[in-house]
Amino acid sequence: MTLHVPSQLFRDDRIDAACELIQAALRDRQRELTGVRPPASERQQTYSDWLEHLAGLRGGSLYYPYLGTGVGKGSLVELADGSVKYDMITGIGVHVFGHGHPELVCELVRAAVSGGVMQGNLQQNLDTLRLCEQLVALARESGAAVEHCFLSTSGATANENALKMLFQARFPANRLLAFSNGFAGRTLALGQVTDRPANREGLPTTLAVDYLPFFDRHEPDQSTRQCLASLHTLRDRYPRQHAGLMVELIQGEGGYYTAPRDFFVALFEEARRHDIPIFIDEIQSFGRTTRMFAFQHLMLDSYVDIVSIGKMSQVCATLFSERMKPRPGLISQTFTGATSAIHAALFVLDQFQQRGLLGPTGRIAEIHQRFERHFKRIERDLPGTIAGPWGVGGMLAMTVFDGSAERTRDFLAELFARGVIAFPAGRQPTRVRMLPPLLVIQDQEIDAVCEIMEAVLRSLA
Ligand SMILES: Cc1ncc(COP(=O)(O)O)c(C=O)c1O
Repeated sequence: MTLHVPSQLFRDDRIDAACELIQAALRDRQRELTGVRPPASERQQTYSDWLEHLAGLRGGSLYYPYLGTGVGKGSLVELADGSVKYDMITGIGVHVFGHGHPELVCELVRAAVSGGVMQGNLQQNLDTLRLCEQLVALARESGAAVEHCFLSTSGATANENALKMLFQARFPANRLLAFSNGFAGRTLALGQVTDRPANREGLPTTLAVDYLPFFDRHEPDQSTRQCLASLHTLRDRYPRQHAGLMVELIQGEGGYYTAPRDFFVALFEEARRHDIPIFIDEIQSFGRTTRMFAFQHLMLDSYVDIVSIGKMSQVCATLFSERMKPRPGLISQTFTGATSAIHAALFVLDQFQQRGLLGPTGRIAEIHQRFERHFKRIERDLPGTIAGPWGVGGMLAMTVFDGSAERTRDFLAELFARGVIAFPAGRQPTRVRMLPPLLVIQDQEIDAVCEIMEAVLRSLA
């Protein structure tokens, strides 16, 4: 049953008036943010002390010396050392609306007055219903047989919930198929799925995972054959023991590697033949391709049994088909999402509908192409310094210099110092990745970011 919960659940002119005042105060403060700004020298010592203090409290230093003031304007973010930078990683894809979005601020005000800081299984408001309804409708848009939606506060929890559903549905199967170079999250179970020894160092083995080799664009046919051959071998070695096949259609932490539709179809058909359900992890790819889901972008709708989303959705979710439905008792949470995060999620979905971001000629495609044109130009002007971009749509990656971890780290540190925040992904080569704020980034900001990148490449070449 589709309910169509009304979009405006809380309306009062006084709240609208308060929002206008808050927006005016925000705009005044944002007027100070006109572009990249270096740190204020008089704040350096205090800022270093704060960073050191935080590192001590959290038991390890931060990747970047990043402590925000909470103020920003679109792609620009202000740090507590007084600097202003272009945020091209947005908390790894979270702040798709950039910083200080005036309309979002009003949504958060509405969330504040709507009661209940957190929502959960004994405390959900109508906005939870509205969000679940919208997510299921989006997932089903071109035919996926997804009927249910369970919200959660992190990508890892959404994935854990998915794994529990798979194992319960396929009991007594107790193994999982996953991909080399994949990332799934950092819980005890997901640490086994993530293909990085450092992420599970010292941890007990909680899950038996069998890895399939991913697609290699240099050897398309051979790598597809190899993947299928591995699947056959594993199926023969462990008959009926695989509860599911977990896959990122665009490997995120692994370095933005993807594969053509044919690769996935060949694999998924084979999995289907052996009644192995398919679980697609879209924590990073949700809302970054030409469609809301990468499985829609690749036209793989008919294969989806479970899909998880996170990051730019603000609230994470596990969406699943009827046959994956858990029995009572398997899944429950005190917190499924903060009320403000649920309002922000609805805001993001609404903006995607309104702004023409999706589609082969949508804004996301334009953003990708503009970055691509700059990268190609820099590659021509400064041969050997940059290659790429790879990835899809709003997931952009490139390699700088020899792609070594050290040189990439030096590049990123210098880029940060000059006012652009990006992040590494993958190993051998290590890539530089960007998840720009797709709802707000302007063409001239893309140009400014690429100009800074070029200057850094020149200085380090
Ligand atoms: C593909 C994928 N799955 C799962 C996760 C884990 O999400 P979270 O960090 O919100 O727990 C991530 C996070 O980077 C991810 O990229």
